[in-house]
Amino acid sequence: MRYYQSQDMSPYNTLRLQVQAAALVAINNDVELVASLEWARARSLSIVPLGEGSNVVLADNVDALVVLQRTCGIETIARTDDTVVLRVAAGENWHGLVRWTLQQGYFGLENLALIPGTVGAAPIQNVGAYGVELQSVLLRVHARQLTDGRVIELNAKECEFGYRDSIFKHGLKDQLLITAVDLALSLHPKVNIRYPAIANYCLEHGIVSPTPHGIFDAVVSIRQSKLPDPAVEPNAGSFFKNPLLQAQEAQALEAEYSSLPLYPQSDGRVKVSAAWMIDQCGWKGFRKEGLGVHPEHALVLVNYGSNSGPQLLSLASDITATVRRTFGIQLEIEPRVYGS
Ligand code: FAD
Ligand code: EPU
Repeated sequence: MRYYQSQDMSPYNTLRLQVQAAALVAINNDVELVASLEWARARSLSIVPLGEGSNVVLADNVDALVVLQRTCGIETIARTDDTVVLRVAAGENWHGLVRWTLQQGYFGLENLALIPGTVGAAPIQNVGAYGVELQSVLLRVHARQLTDGRVIELNAKECEFGYRDSIFKHGLKDQLLITAVDLALSLHPKVNIRYPAIANYCLEHGIVSPTPHGIFDAVVSIRQSKLPDPAVEPNAGSFFKNPLLQAQEAQALEAEYSSLPLYPQSDGRVKVSAAWMIDQCGWKGFRKEGLGVHPEHALVLVNYGSNSGPQLLSLASDITATVRRTFGIQLEIEPRVYGS
């Protein structure tokens, strides 16, 4: 285990933003984790946990020890006739886990294929895609407190999950380093094709009875057709959340903009497509000074060579201003911003 001081962070975030971290270390097990907490404490440095850096905007130098969570391993901790419970180490790659579970005949993660990043980061924003969120399979989160290294455990309810939200963004923000998650997966194939893009894919490909493997292939194919690969065009996925409106507010917008995609939620609120609004404002394909809005997806901001977090945030605020002026809606940034 080696501590790198004054480390360039551009290889460690998928937007490839160029800032320096005071120090950086990659940990591969619990002993290294505890040692890194002590190393930071001895130098009065705070800690920023990081997985694969696919949901962060590094807008300034990080005055902290960045701890890259690389601890791997998948363990079966319980099994019934219907369900298997896995304990998955936080450093495992999320998509690798999804693929592996399907190979084992464990179902429930297929709609979440190809989401970049680590397992340990997945609870932070309750990752979700194509009609499924992490909270539908998560049993427990295991972590260590950053202040004193104490081991703690949270059940699903204690995680206070919501749309792109959890207690790790509020009451426990910057308090923990997640070490593992327990997931309960089904041993019986069951599929969720409620999301329109999946239903359309099945229709177009003549798939009458989709299997979990079929859903996995559909999700991979849909995602590859519209989301840019960060390795080629540096990005952090959706840059803004889809706003959640009260039903009345959504109805008023729908009356004015009949093609605005709306997604009614179980709590009565309605999710509104941020991509559609940004697209309508004419931003899709916009490009200036090494930054831009992806030509295939208006929700994805791309670093075409600017490498500057502040400039990226300035573009984001120009976008939110036009959406606010046009639709009266305030967009919220989805990735975690450091240093704004
Ligand atoms: P990082 O970016 O490294 O970290 C994100 C945040 O989590 C940081 O605040 C960090 O401090 C914290 N964190 C990370 N690991 C730990 C840990 N072990 N303990 C405590 N805190 C931690 N997200 C979706 O929900 N759905 C999608 O469909 C989706 N699609 C995407 C597509 C693309 C092309 C990209 C680039 C991103 C996409 N994302 C999506 C966002 C991203 O993949 C997820 O948020 C993912 O969980 C981030 O994982 P990471 O390891 O890269 O986290
Ligand atoms: N649309 C446009 N213009 C565009 C792109 C999309 O009008 O440029 C329209 C589409 O036609 C569609 C609607 O917007 O009717 C929604 O588009 P899409 O299905 O691509 O989903 P999204 O709302 O843009 C969300 C998540 C994604 C997730 C997909 C699939 C958020 C902020 N984003 O995107 O998550 O993969 O749904 O479930 O909730 C991420 O969080 O980084 C991410 C990529």
